[in-house]
Amino acid sequence: MKTQVRKRVGLWATLALSGVASVVILTQGPSVSAEGGTAATAPPVLNGRADVGAKLFDRSDCRNCHSINHQGSEVGPDLTQVSVRRSPEWLRAFIYDPEEQFPDTKMPRFPWKSEQEVADLVAFLQTLKRPVNREAIRKASTSSVEFGRALVTAFDCRACHIIQDGGRPRYPNLTHIGSKIYPEWEQEWLMDPQKIKPGTFMPTFGFTEDEAKAIATYLDSLK
Ligand code: HEC
Ligand code: HEC
Repeated sequence: MKTQVRKRVGLWATLALSGVASVVILTQGPSVSAEGGTAATAPPVLNGRADVGAKLFDRSDCRNCHSINHQGSEVGPDLTQVSVRRSPEWLRAFIYDPEEQFPDTKMPRFPWKSEQEVADLVAFLQTLKRPVNREAIRKASTSSVEFGRALVTAFDCRACHIIQDGGRPRYPNLTHIGSKIYPEWEQEWLMDPQKIKPGTFMPTFGFTEDEAKAIATYLDSLK
């Protein structure tokens, strides 16, 4: 971790890297407004500018490795639902210095000119998501398997896994997972992967017990 004194915006990235909740500091942080003035109209907490981030995303060749809406490169995870599975603090810290967050990563560290650039990128990534209405999904499902399958689609597990007819090949292929792993273990894994394998890149989605159970039931049907 870098120890030199950084400007204030640098502080939260450092805090996020060390896993300290930094909400208070975020809300008290300076309002960086590119347009100058009207700090009141700047988004709260995040000062990222999505339109600037979108251009930076293209310029930085992120698309060489990442797809959006599953259109494009399959080297890294699809990024459409990334802000559903990762917090803004996590995203800022990871994009700022991937290796510090995940030592085995294949993602390069970019020579950022400022942390504002990273905040802009994160603001852009947040515009991509398709919000997940868990209660609507639950109500529309007539069985546990169906509920699990719908959650797998909504949370886009295929961003990282191949499951039957699509997905990304970087991590374990789940197409025949039901013949390999017990649903009880899968349920535990889905609730808290870090507890089972500290440091794993598999996100903690915050599933309730019966959501995790439904997903495990669905996965168990994949033989
Ligand atoms: C050389 C390929 C490569 C490039 C270029 C690249 N990435 Fe990545 N990225 C990856 C890989 C691979 C991962 C998954 C971590 C791993 O397995 O190493 C990843 C992970 C991520 C994640 C976390 C995804 C998740 O689901 O948790 C984000 C966010 C991300 N990249 C954003 C970016 C952005 C923004 C850029 C452009 C500035 C970029 N990446 C450029 C390869 C790349
Ligand atoms: C950001 C990438 C990412 C996403 C998104 C993701 N996973 Fe994973 N998953 C991983 C990684 C990485 C592993 C391998 C664990 C390890 O070795 O660290 C894994 C492992 C697993 C395993 C164990 C497979 C085995 O053979 O050991 C299951 C089951 C699983 N994931 C299910 C899911 C489900 C269900 C979802 C969606 C709710 C999901 N994953 C979303 C990255 C991801």
